[in-house]
Amino acid sequence: MSPERRAVSIAGRPRVAILISGRGSNMAALIDAAPALGYEVALVFSNVVDAPGLAVAAAAGVATAALDHRGHGGRAAFDAKVDAILAAHDIRYVALAGYMRLLSDPFVAAWAGRMLNIHPSLLPSFTGLDTHARAIAAGCRVAGCTVHFVTGELDGGPIVAQAAVPVLEEDTAETLAARILAEEHRIYPLALAALCAGRLRIAGQRVLGG
Ligand code: GAR
Repeated sequence: MSPERRAVSIAGRPRVAILISGRGSNMAALIDAAPALGYEVALVFSNVVDAPGLAVAAAAGVATAALDHRGHGGRAAFDAKVDAILAAHDIRYVALAGYMRLLSDPFVAAWAGRMLNIHPSLLPSFTGLDTHARAIAAGCRVAGCTVHFVTGELDGGPIVAQAAVPVLEEDTAETLAARILAEEHRIYPLALAALCAGRLRIAGQRVLGG
């Protein structure tokens, strides 16, 4: 069945899976905002079987699944199993929320235009890790976060939403991360809702609508 003909809840809300590897604070923000924003969080999946976010999701009444990424015979083989789990839960959209795994090309292709990620920098600056410390070290006056479509390029997909915060003289990586995280929790649900409502259009590297 085509994705357009399934993956909608009984109430007509698009079914979303959130992929996490850790504490899941963005996941919690996405779950909390779902009733007001018109999507349904139908699954939280983790590649870390004891990720703290799994318990948070379960306590919120969301179905969870976990599969350790080790020992599956490579990245693509593991991702194929994840894809099967998503299919079993009739998922239409995927939101990566601190999912600290590089994705295989087939997985990215399967979810092209239907998968978002949140990254703690103002992309295209500071892809990868240690974004907060690197922004401070580079002398940035502002830092922030980005929600973007996932493509084969790490942290390189079309940008859906961004929020900026000031970098203060007394900031450490930790204090800056906390200020940015509050903005992550604000913009990610809005960006996901826009995707689920069909309001986003990808035009090259740009996203129109929102
Ligand atoms: C968030 O700050 C998110 O932007 C970042 O990991 C953190 C996860 O926190 N993601 C990345 O760095 C991806 N490159 P959370 O589990 O509390 O949402």
